[in-house]
Amino acid sequence: MSTVAERVAEILVTARYPIVLTGAGMSAESGVPTFRDAMTGLWTRFDPHELATPEAFRRQPEVVFGWYVTRLRQVVAIDPHPGYQALVHLERLFGTLPIVTQNVDGLHRRAGSTDVTELHGSLLSFRCAAGHHAFPVEEVLVLAQVGGDGRLDPPVCASCGDLVRPNVVWFGEMLPEAAMTRAALLTEHCDVLLLVGTSSVVYPAAALPIRAQALGARVVEVNPAPTPFTRLANVAWQARAGDALPELAKQIVSMKAST
Ligand code: OAD
Repeated sequence: MSTVAERVAEILVTARYPIVLTGAGMSAESGVPTFRDAMTGLWTRFDPHELATPEAFRRQPEVVFGWYVTRLRQVVAIDPHPGYQALVHLERLFGTLPIVTQNVDGLHRRAGSTDVTELHGSLLSFRCAAGHHAFPVEEVLVLAQVGGDGRLDPPVCASCGDLVRPNVVWFGEMLPEAAMTRAALLTEHCDVLLLVGTSSVVYPAAALPIRAQALGARVVEVNPAPTPFTRLANVAWQARAGDALPELAKQIVSMKAST
């Protein structure tokens, strides 16, 4: 009787075009809070509509900007866990392993993955609100946070005088067109989709595995808890990303060595 890791490894080893779709659970073991996990989720402590919307930024820019700079400082100080390294290893083994992520923490690229599509933007990138003029993240990192609650007045864009904001997708905003186009293309072409660490409740990202499966791809879900997609998955691997992905890479390496 083969283990789940062996079954998933067999699916990936025989895949022509595997892709990966990740969510906040992929970063949980690196210490980045997820959004909805009951006790640890970011939003159990904050109301996302108080912070992650253009209206919130207009109403209280120093609170919203300070919150994102706090998250940015957390993210740049942590290391991608072995599950990230496992995906880099698989990319090198397969020659390619496109990753579509909902995460804005930049950890896939930091780990060494070279084909990463960030559906919801990036904490590591800043621009002015209207003109979309880029603002160096290095300059954001040296801004001094004021006040005990981390409030921070956003800088003003030198080109147009507008306030600088993080390049992340806020509620009510469109996803970056280029990222959505690339994600749709990858979904259309893949024959295996590895779905890691997402609650599969936010669209359009949650539609991608459904679309892939409708086009004949097999979807493997890696998540310690059930999601709305679990019953649809070809394989539902109830495990944490930091445990499952290194085990998967180990199984694939040993399978390739024995062929
Ligand atoms: P959620 O917080 O909604 O879901 C996190 C998922 O990760 C849950 O299903 C957990 O069970 C799972 N999980 C927790 N620990 C894990 C681990 N160690 N390994 C694997 N899985 C684990 O986060 P997302 O699904 O990413 O969008 O949320 C999607 C989007 O909702 C976010 O990108 C954000 C939010 O609106 C924007 O901000 C635009």
